[in-house]
Amino acid sequence: MNQERTIGFIGFGNMAQALADGLIRFGNVKPESVFACAAHWDKLTVSAASRGIVPCRTAEETVRQADLVILAVKPYLIEAVTAPIRDLLAGKIVVSVAAGWNFERYQAIFTPETHHISTIPNTPVSVGEGIIVCESRHSLTEEEYSVFETLFSSIAVIQPVETAQLSVAGTLSGCGPAFASMFIEALADGAVKNGLPRAAAYRLASQMIAGTGKLQLQTGMHPGAMKDAVCSPGGTTIVGVSVLEEKGFRGAVIDAIDAIEKKR
Ligand SMILES: NC(=O)c1ccc[n+]([C@@H]2O[C@H](COP(=O)([O-])OP(=O)(O)OC[C@H]3O[C@@H](n4cnc5c(N)ncnc54)[C@H](OP(=O)(O)O)[C@@H]3O)[C@@H](O)[C@H]2O)c1
Repeated sequence: MNQERTIGFIGFGNMAQALADGLIRFGNVKPESVFACAAHWDKLTVSAASRGIVPCRTAEETVRQADLVILAVKPYLIEAVTAPIRDLLAGKIVVSVAAGWNFERYQAIFTPETHHISTIPNTPVSVGEGIIVCESRHSLTEEEYSVFETLFSSIAVIQPVETAQLSVAGTLSGCGPAFASMFIEALADGAVKNGLPRAAAYRLASQMIAGTGKLQLQTGMHPGAMKDAVCSPGGTTIVGVSVLEEKGFRGAVIDAIDAIEKKR
């Protein structure tokens, strides 16, 4: 369905590129249907050429070409960057990925006719395994929401949340990859310490995380039950679980989420 849809990125940095890569690879989006603008033209032309997408000189040119516009500049730039294209955004599906920009903030700067939704994606969208948290309050029509959902569910689990939960949901999905990477690295260090080659250790650790996550998503099993299922009485796994418990593993993760929320 997305073959004919045109997508415009306002800002083409890390997050926009991750989204574009995922949509082109998994979302049935043609590179030539993707338009993007950024602050530095030379840099943009390089990242556009490597993907076969169309670089644009201005936000205005980008929006004119696109029927779905993704706002992907840093949060502090949103107001300045959207001011000149305010009227053009009406009539488009506007998807924001800017942290901290919720429905109410956009209502204050957009025309009342603008149909917009605020989201927080994470970078695994580039490999089709991302998360897109979105605010349940939005102004897309049912049909537009269905376009949004169909397009982005090709690269992510879409999770609508209440406005007040956007921050913590973004923390879990957006900061979580750093924690998961640390866990992968630590697992591999433990395995290397016990003789497994480094490359094999990373490969096994990463696939173990991916597979465990997929198992939980597909079965809906309680994570505690999943843990119990691999801990036989008097066995080896429960010894490891007991050490992690002693070292405050779960408490440390909970405190990390708390600390981020306090800093926001
Ligand atoms: N990175 C993440 O994991 C993540 C996760 C969730 C949400 N987000 C959100 O994604 C947004 C972008 O973050 P990012 O990490 O992708 O930042 P980034 O890599 O710095 O990209 C920002 C982009 O905005 C462009 N830009 C700057 N001024 C502009 C202007 N006046 N007009 C058009 N484009 C302009 C930059 O152009 P140049 O490259 O030419 O300077 C760059 O392409 C942020 O709002 C952030 O909250 C990011």
